[in-house]
This record gives sequence, structure tokens and C-alpha cells, in this order.
Amino acid sequence: MAFLAEQLKRIKPSATIAVTDKARALKLAGRNVIGLGAGEPDFDTPDNIKEAAVKAIRDGKASKYTNVDGIAELKEAVCRKFKTENGLDYKPSQISVGTGGKQVLYNAFVATLNPGDEVIIPAPYWVSYPEMVMLAGGEPVEVKTTMESGFKMSAEALERAITPKTKWLLLNSPSNPTGAAYTKSELKALTDVLVRHPHVHVLTDDMYEHLVYDDFEFFTPAQIEPRLYERTLTLNGVSKAYCMTGWRIGFAGGPEPLIKAMAMIQSQSTSNPSAVSQWAAVEALNGPKDFIPKHNKIFKERRDLCVAMLNQAKGIQCPKPEGAFYVFPSCAGTIGKTAPTGKTLTTDEDFVTELLEAEGVAVVQGTPFGLGPAFRISYATATTSVQEACERIQRFCGNLR
Ligand SMILES: Cc1ncc(COP(=O)(O)O)c(C=O)c1O
Repeated sequence: MAFLAEQLKRIKPSATIAVTDKARALKLAGRNVIGLGAGEPDFDTPDNIKEAAVKAIRDGKASKYTNVDGIAELKEAVCRKFKTENGLDYKPSQISVGTGGKQVLYNAFVATLNPGDEVIIPAPYWVSYPEMVMLAGGEPVEVKTTMESGFKMSAEALERAITPKTKWLLLNSPSNPTGAAYTKSELKALTDVLVRHPHVHVLTDDMYEHLVYDDFEFFTPAQIEPRLYERTLTLNGVSKAYCMTGWRIGFAGGPEPLIKAMAMIQSQSTSNPSAVSQWAAVEALNGPKDFIPKHNKIFKERRDLCVAMLNQAKGIQCPKPEGAFYVFPSCAGTIGKTAPTGKTLTTDEDFVTELLEAEGVAVVQGTPFGLGPAFRISYATATTSVQEACERIQRFCGNLR
């Protein structure tokens, strides 16, 4: 009898982690490698947040277990955030805090999916979505989008994907990996469809809410369509905008029975998220936010630099996204060409492998995100490195035969 569980056969390891590992190995071997694979800000956690954490430790607030799905102070801060930033009214009993947005998402799927239940996931998507759905026993249903549509799902495509088995629509705007974000009217077209299908719930992953550029205005589904409020789980966290990926705090607001079920799962698996991190998150949400526009100014410069330089690379087409810190260029124009090693590029995996080999630039191939041939660049790294990496990509593409 096999030792490992059957369902693991459906799960793939994370492509983003694989690339990061490969780049690390090359660096250790002495190569000059620029890593554009990691999905986290290069900025440090702001000092006021660090200080709040130190104070919590000194005051003895970090020594003990806390309430399983979040301390009261954090739940109140999250309620305030949803009210002031998104116009959403949630009570503390409607808030779940977990170890990163990732755990909150996973809890939601475990709490709701029965075998055969479908989750609609627009592609390209964050690599963890389909795998999480499958681990929880559900069926991911991909809806492909195109570069021409700005990687956004149309109302018609959503309508076509809905079946009697659909349990969730999983939305992520701004998106990892494309950076694409839905405008108010684009989102309204989708929520209009959902209003007609009362059995479909909405899980909206708003993790990159604050990382939008060029005066783009962020909206979340329950804010646009109050009739969806009762069947929406609004997910967010401090990881990206507050530069706190290592602290592991994510949260969601939603219907009380779902939040209770998620708390039960958490109580029997990991218990409370780290106490010290929760106090840090309280300060993140309640404290000054002036660093966010400062960071965004730098992110926007890097995005514009990437888009301009990549569009000058032979065979690459790079749309300009609204937010996050990713671009998702097509490398279709390089497929069929030959790399300096003599290898013919037949897939985007070949493209990224040969790019790393020839020029020491680590990016992630698009196919694991649900759309290829393409690749994802995270520009959350020093501007000089982003520029150098884009020069190397231009040279790599120019040298293909
Ligand atoms: C779209 C999206 N959602 C959720 C997460 C998870 O965030 P956390 O680090 O808080 O678990 C990530 C992290 O990469 C992400 O890109």
C-alpha cells in the first residue's frame, strides 16, 4: 500500500519556489544571478510596526495562546479597515484571522468544498489556487483569459463556466501573476451575472488592493453589489502592502456561519496565528500609511521600466498592468528559435531555463499560472537590478537564432 495519500498525485510543487531554488543554487556556484521570481516586496517592514511587535513581547502579550482566529483588537482593526477602505460593514464575529492569506483561503475551501464542487478560477491565476482547491477535495474550473482582454474574464465567459456544481468564483484583482485589476464597471458586469446565480459564492482575494498605479481606483465585489454581501468572503492581509510577508497574517470578512466553520478548522489544525505578529498587524492597520504611496511611486517606476524595456526585446510582448508588482509578458515570438546552448525553445519553460543559463536572470514560466507561452517577472527588487535584468533579457532575445 502506498504511504503517501492518493490526493497528492493531483498536486504539483510550486513553480515559483522551484525557480527560486534553481537561482539560489546558481548563485552558490558563483554565478551573477538576478532573481525576479519572488512574490514579496523588497522593502523592510516599517519601524512603527516592528516597534509594536517588540512592545507586545515586552508587555507579555506574545507569550500565550490567543483567541483561535484572532485577538479582539485585530478583529476590530480589520472591521475598521473594511469599513473605511471598502465601505463594508462587518462585525468582529464575521472576521477570521489566520497565518497569512494562504491559510485563510485554505480554511475557506476546506470548510465548504464537497467532492465534485467546482471553483471557477480565471487564468492566469496564482499557482496555489487550483492546488488548494484540489487538496480540499474540490474541482478547479479554469476560465482562460487573453492578453488582448487585459487578462480579464468577461461576463459571458463567467456565465458559460457556471454549472449547478459551482460553489465559488475566485477573483483576484490586482492579480498575481498578471498585475491586471478590474475597474468598477468590469467588476459590475461580473457581479450582475452572479446576482442571477444565487448558489455561487464569491471569494475575492484583495491581497494587492493597495498596490495600484496611475490613479486606478480599487473596488471589491461586495462593495459594488450589496446583494452579494451575504455570499462573499472578502480576503485581504498585511503581507504585501505592509511589507510583512514573513509575519504571516491574513484575514477575511464574511458570513458568520462560514467564519465559525473556518475557526473550527483552525482550532483543530494550527490554532492562533503568531501572537506577536497579530499585534504587529494591529499597528499596521491602525498606524500611519504614508509609506504605501512612497513604495507605490517606486513600484510604478519599475513597472514602467519593465514594460518599456521588455517591449523592446525581440519576440516579447508586455502589456502594462494596473497593479501588484508583476508583469506577465508573452514570449510567443521566441518559440521555435534556438538558444546559445543549441537548444530550440519549444515551451516557456525552455525560455526561462535558457534565460537563466545564458544570462543569469530568474523568472517564472507562465504555464503553471495557467497561460503560456509567457513568463512572470516580479519587479519587487532594486530598480538597478530590474533594469540590468531587462537589459539581459533584451540581449538573450536578440541572440536567439
Ligand atoms: C494572490 C495572492 N493571494 C494570497 C497570497 C498569500 O499571502 P500570504 O503571504 O499572506 O499568505 C499571495 C502571496 O503570494 C498572493 O499572491
